[in-house]
Formats: sequence, C-alpha cells, structure tokens
Amino acid sequence: MSKLQKHFESNGQGHVFTFFDEITDSEQKHLLKQASDIDLEELSELVSSLVQNTGSKNETIADSLEPAEFTPRPESEGGNPSLWIEAREKGESALRAGRVAAFTVAGGQGTRLGYDGPKGTFGVTPVLKKSLFQVFAEKILASSLIFGRPVPWYILTSIINHDETVAFFAENNFFGLPEDKVHFFSQGLMPAVDANGKILMADKGQIALSPDGHGGALRALVRSGAIRQMEADGIDTISYFQVDNPLVRCIDPAFIGFHLMNNSELSSKMVPKAYPEEKVGVFCQANGQALVVEYSDLPERLAQERDENGEIRFRAGSIAIHIFDRNFVDRLGSGRDESAKLPFHLANKKVSFIDESGTIHEPDEPNAYKFEMFVFDALPFAANPVIIETDRADDFSPVKNASGIDSAETSAADQLRQFTRWAKEAGIGIETDETGLPSVTFEVSPLFGDTPGRFISAWEALEHKPELTDGLVLV
Ligand code: UTP
Repeated sequence: MSKLQKHFESNGQGHVFTFFDEITDSEQKHLLKQASDIDLEELSELVSSLVQNTGSKNETIADSLEPAEFTPRPESEGGNPSLWIEAREKGESALRAGRVAAFTVAGGQGTRLGYDGPKGTFGVTPVLKKSLFQVFAEKILASSLIFGRPVPWYILTSIINHDETVAFFAENNFFGLPEDKVHFFSQGLMPAVDANGKILMADKGQIALSPDGHGGALRALVRSGAIRQMEADGIDTISYFQVDNPLVRCIDPAFIGFHLMNNSELSSKMVPKAYPEEKVGVFCQANGQALVVEYSDLPERLAQERDENGEIRFRAGSIAIHIFDRNFVDRLGSGRDESAKLPFHLANKKVSFIDESGTIHEPDEPNAYKFEMFVFDALPFAANPVIIETDRADDFSPVKNASGIDSAETSAADQLRQFTRWAKEAGIGIETDETGLPSVTFEVSPLFGDTPGRFISAWEALEHKPELTDGLVLV
C-alpha cells in the first residue's frame, strides 16, 4: 500500500482505493493524481464545520448589518457628475498606460442553462447569435483599439470545459485578438462527499470532483502563474466579470478610475434591487467592513425594510462585476496571509456515484455535498472597498436559465433595448413598445460602437445610412 493510500486510510477515506487493483495502469495513475491533489486536512475540517454542523445561521451578524455605502450614478439622487468625469479620465489614462487586464470566470457547470458545451460558446446576440465569448472579445478589442494598448484577457476554465474552450477560440481565430494576449487556465477541484463526509467515487477509478467555485479564481490566478505574468507585463488592475452576462462593460473606464482614485483593493458595481425578494446578494457593512450577504442569508425583516424615502433600505444588489488590485489577489490567492482566507460554502446536490460493492447510483434527490468558494467573500479583506452604482440596463442581463427570467430570450431583448436607446440618441426614428423593445430585430457590434457616444459618432460617419430593418447588423 502506498503512502498516499495509507494517508487516505488513516483519514477514513480508504474506500477511494477499493477498486485500485481492478483498474488499468493509466487509470491508477489518474486516480493517484486526483487523490494527491486533495487536501484531506482541509476536507475533514470542512466536513465537521459545514456538513456535520446543524447549527442555525448566525443571527448576531444580521443584527449588526447596515446597508453599504455606494457612489450614486451621476443621474441618481446625490450623484456628482464631475466626479464621474474625473474617474473616467483616470481610468482612461490607466488603459492608455496598459495597466488593465480583463478577467472572465468561465469554470462553472452551467447546469441551469442545460446547454451542452462551455457556456461562453453559447449564442446570445439578437440577430447573429454571436457567442458570449465573441461579444466579450469584441468589447475587449474595441477598448484596445480606442486606448492604443492591447488589453490582455485571462479566462478561468475548469477541467470540464478547458479543452473545448481553448479549441473554440482557436477555431475562431481568437475573434481578432492577438493570440498571445488571451490566457486560459483551469481552476481547482473539490471532492463531493456524502452526509458522513465520505468522498464519493464517480466510478472505479475516478473521484467525483467539481470546480471549487468562482472564489477559486483567486488561488487559480496565483497557482497558474497568471499573477506573475501580469506583474511582468505591468498590469496592476484586473477587471472581473462572469461569462454569462453579455451586457457587461468588460472594460469600464469610470469604474477603473473610481477603483484607482480610492486606492481600492476591490471595487464592485451595484444595481438597486428591483424588489425586496429579488435573488441577488446585497452589499452591506458590519463592524465597519463591507461584505456581500447572500439573498438567502439576509433576514426577511431586513430585506423588507424601507428608508425614509420609501426605498428598499438594503438595496445595493451585487451583480458580480468587480475590479481587483493585483497585489490583493496575490495576497489572498497565495494563502500566505493566514488571516485572509475565503471560506467554503456548502451546496447540497445530486451526484451519481459508485458504492463499495460496485453498484452505480443515479440519485433523484440531493445526496452529496459540494464545497465552493465565492469571489465576493474577498470583500471583507479588502482595503478601501469601493461600490459604485450602475444602470442595470447597460451592465447586467445574465443568461442563467433555459427559459423565463435571466434566459437567452430576456438577455437578447435587453441587448436589443440597449441598441435601440443608442439608435434613438443618434436621432434614428424607431418605434418601441412601453418596455423600450423595438418592432425590428437588429444588432450592433461593439466594434461599431460600444457606448452611446461611440455609436453616435460611428453612425454619423456612415456615408450610406442603412434602414433599421429586421436582421440589420452594424459592424
Ligand atoms: P453560477 O453561479 O451561475 O454557476 O456562476 P454556473 O455553474 O455557471 O451555473 P449553474 O449554477 O450550474 O446553472 C457564475 C459565474 O461563475 C463562474 C461561472 O462560469 C459563471 O461565470 N464559476 C462558477 C466558475 O468560474 N467556477 C465555478 O466553480 C463556479
């Protein structure tokens, strides 16, 4: 018995090697590699603190929660237009100096969408059904061209989609981006366990592993060498967004500027919650520290509270758009600061497994526990956190579900509404319904215009202005 097997045995996980003698040499190698990547000490701590802890949620934290402060949009009450101009200029000069990288987390499983393939390859635009990756690539390319410096793009994948993601970019010539400026790297994995904390086996030679959550992005950035590469390239500002949101301004100069003006380690965008029950995390503060409280953890009485203006008091909804300072990621992701570690959260899921008698189980009910880190848990560790308000219509319409809210359909409609607002600003006559949706379906490439101002200039520069008809694509 190898040292590793003994180690598993003494930690009550010896069953992982039940079929070791039955599997092929290469399967044995693979299993040994999977097993050696698991930190059994960490796992057993997680099992006792999360799986076997039946205690209720900590109400004392809820008692000390206050709404987080944020910088309102120039158009909102209390907004300061000149501050936003200053921030935008600051961000633009950081972009001209080549200090900014884009960073997409795309390691998730995308189970709710039910699409067979990496989510970033899913088609989302109203006419061409361009993939999420292509939309982001064009936004990043537009920004690189405007500010005269290529914006490197880091993409977090996981073992379930890494090869397919890289192949998709290669097949599409990196959508016009310089190949050496697009970097892919895989996130870490965590084993799924049963209610007794026993590691589940996917089959005789494979542990049931799944990605360690978007919070795993921080340690993956360090472990993969991405952070070192950024340092070598003079990048200190990382613009973070999720793979499922085609409206996101991948590179937003004003946001970058606010982050830099405040010497922030972690900045975030918020949108006011549409209604108290909306399922988004909320920016709060407790004991002077900013944090995101998940919707399921925000006590009902706080979620429903109104301020003196009748607005939802805890209204700062998190939309998973952040800017990270590179050194901050290094500090958290390297684990060298013992006092700044992202906690794991528990998810109760259905996981197929093989038991020790060799029987395969396909459960109908959640039977397993998975462990995930969330990126917003970095917030309490960040110096000078900045939260700015953004307009949902210009920054957030994710594709999460196969149908209904936050689906391909709602997101395509929101993109179309945005193109229509820009077209109207450019003086184009276009009829819409009361939600701003036009009667024609058209599309604007970020390379034509990625802001109202740039859309207007590009439109005005067109010698032959096309009619806005179904299927028109402005490139
Ligand atoms: P979601 O929370 O929407 O999860 O991820 P998901 O796995 O994509 O989808 P469901 O819940 O299975 O339907 C939000 C973002 O975080 C990334 C996703 O790729 C998405 O961009 N993510 C999530 C990771 O990069 N790694 C993870 O382990 C989890």
